[in-house]
Amino acid sequence: MFPGGDTRSSAHYGPYPLVMDRAAGCRMWDVDGNELIDFMNNFTSLIHGHGHEDIVLAVQQQAAKGSAYAAPSMDQIELAELIVERIPSIEQMRFTSSGTEGTTMAIRCARAATGRKKIMKMEGGYHGSFELAEVSLVPFPDRRGPLNAPVSLPVDGSFPDNVLLDTIVCPYNESDMARELIARHAGEIAAVIVEPVLGSMGMIPATPEFLGALREASLAHDILLIFDEVITLRLDVGGAQTPLGITPDLTCMGKIIGGGLPVGGVGGRRDLMQWFSPQRQQPVMHASTFSGNALTMAAGLAAMRHYTAAEARRINELGDQLREGFNRAFAQAGIAAQMTGAGSLSNVQFTSEPVHDARDSLAASMSAGHIPRLLHLAMMRRGVFSAARLMYCISTPMTSREIDFAITALNESLQELRPYIERERPGLLL
Ligand SMILES: Cc1ncc(COP(=O)(O)O)c(C=O)c1O
Repeated sequence: MFPGGDTRSSAHYGPYPLVMDRAAGCRMWDVDGNELIDFMNNFTSLIHGHGHEDIVLAVQQQAAKGSAYAAPSMDQIELAELIVERIPSIEQMRFTSSGTEGTTMAIRCARAATGRKKIMKMEGGYHGSFELAEVSLVPFPDRRGPLNAPVSLPVDGSFPDNVLLDTIVCPYNESDMARELIARHAGEIAAVIVEPVLGSMGMIPATPEFLGALREASLAHDILLIFDEVITLRLDVGGAQTPLGITPDLTCMGKIIGGGLPVGGVGGRRDLMQWFSPQRQQPVMHASTFSGNALTMAAGLAAMRHYTAAEARRINELGDQLREGFNRAFAQAGIAAQMTGAGSLSNVQFTSEPVHDARDSLAASMSAGHIPRLLHLAMMRRGVFSAARLMYCISTPMTSREIDFAITALNESLQELRPYIERERPGLLL
């Protein structure tokens, strides 16, 4: 029925994905009745886990009143007000139906506003399900070129050549190289787009110095800076940009602002966002049937009202505990692995060397062979559900209990896998 057995490649894992029956709080049950703690949270989007009472109530009440009006609803306005109040870079915003559409609209706005058409993105950066957003997502070692001049690479055979030509790839966390590349391409780049934490390639935080260098260089050359905060919005009620103290021109949103329903958004400086106004001449076209639909807005507003600064701090601390516990478990088991990440976002990396970009994390996963896949299954057998690439994130129903449970499961899983690692990947032993 489904190619590969699922309807979404990112959520696929072998030999076959579990079919879920129901979920509540931070727990899920599959159709065989197995209980799992959900560290996946639909790829970081379920900030309150599953079935939060007030979100369920808001959705039920709204569903009874209609799901989509093709007209603003009061919740839509209130959710936008909350976002504008919280996120420093956002003076005006648009809702979209997905993060992909949010980044697409940010890029189109940047092109219209600057008159330039090329976009600079980071090596290993992922910004959605379209070609530009995935250029050099995986920096294949045989083709990627030198670190200071990465080659724009397709991830599959679907990429038209012009996308590769119009997308300039920048090394992540390399301030001097980024400054140099931005200066070299200054006349042709509309925007630089960057995630404050490189998500898909393993939750690798950007250094404040690197993001500061991007801000400085983009300002110096009249290029727009876009923060893709689709994942990192959860790190602070004001997004990752708030503790960093760096204000991008445009911010892409998604995931948590929909309260568990499909969502995305783009926001930023008023003069830039005005490009979307149908009242101006030659606006950037933004249609999108389900953008700002009443159901998502009701769920998102309820979710964001409950996501307070205290809750953000608490789950970030739980994330710290998870990383500490996992790192201790790997060290005790004598296995060269670590957890990278920031706040409530984490990812296992099979190396004890520092991981500061996608090349490092790709090298780690290639050297680990199929061990990460086995660890994912071993953890699942012990009731811990994560992304197959061993990405873990925290939701607000979690407490230290769930963190301790996952750490115990890791200790047991590593014991189970040790003989395989000794035999198949002795290079991973410390
Ligand atoms: C950083 C980032 N940007 C954009 C997107 C695209 O969002 P969506 O899957 O909602 O289209 C994702 C999705 O995982 C993401 O991680």
